[in-house]
Amino acid sequence: MPAETAYHDEVGDYFAKNADTSPYNAYTDRPAMLSLAGAVGGLKILDVGCGAGHYAAELLAGGAEVVGIDGSATLLKHARERLGDRAALRMHDAEQPLDFIDDASFDGVVCALMLHHIADRPRLLGDLRRVLRPGGGCWPRRPTRRLTGGNSVARTTPKTGLTAHSPGGRWQSTTSACRWKRS
Ligand SMILES: C[S@@+](CC[C@H](N)C(=O)[O-])C[C@H]1O[C@@H](n2cnc3c(N)ncnc32)[C@H](O)[C@@H]1O
Repeated sequence: MPAETAYHDEVGDYFAKNADTSPYNAYTDRPAMLSLAGAVGGLKILDVGCGAGHYAAELLAGGAEVVGIDGSATLLKHARERLGDRAALRMHDAEQPLDFIDDASFDGVVCALMLHHIADRPRLLGDLRRVLRPGGGCWPRRPTRRLTGGNSVARTTPKTGLTAHSPGGRWQSTTSACRWKRS
């Protein structure tokens, strides 16, 4: 069954094009998240809700190995065009368990602008923790109305449920992105 909230057909085409240059995606979201990710050379990173592969392209350029999953065939087609065979891409509804991924098999997880689409966030976040190696970083991001000033992450994280379901970790934040490190 296709993921209900995934960006299918013309919505996917619109997002793919818009995310190339939109101030929000290209100049706010990705720079903030990628700066938190830091040096990714040699790391294996899971990109959950990878969309058209914009993040994956940057992570690959930084020397990471990337696996991307998304519930939209339309966006995976755009991602394939962008990435060629440099990243492993898989169609998957993230409402369902990531049972095709081994425990502690990734150094990092990017989940950009996607978590807010998921109904059972504790289940997905638990899975993201499971697939991370100890010391691995998770970079979740959800849209906020306020991108500058104050600390949007402080308002955002309780709603994601990540704090409640990620004991033994520590938050770092900028005004628009956050990182959780698995201990
Ligand atoms: C706002 S886009 C973000 C895409 C990408 N992370 C980025 O920042 O460029 C949200 C993405 O989540 C995907 N998505 C939404 N619900 C999903 C689900 N249940 N399973 C898998 N992917 C889903 C959409 O198809 C879309 O690619």
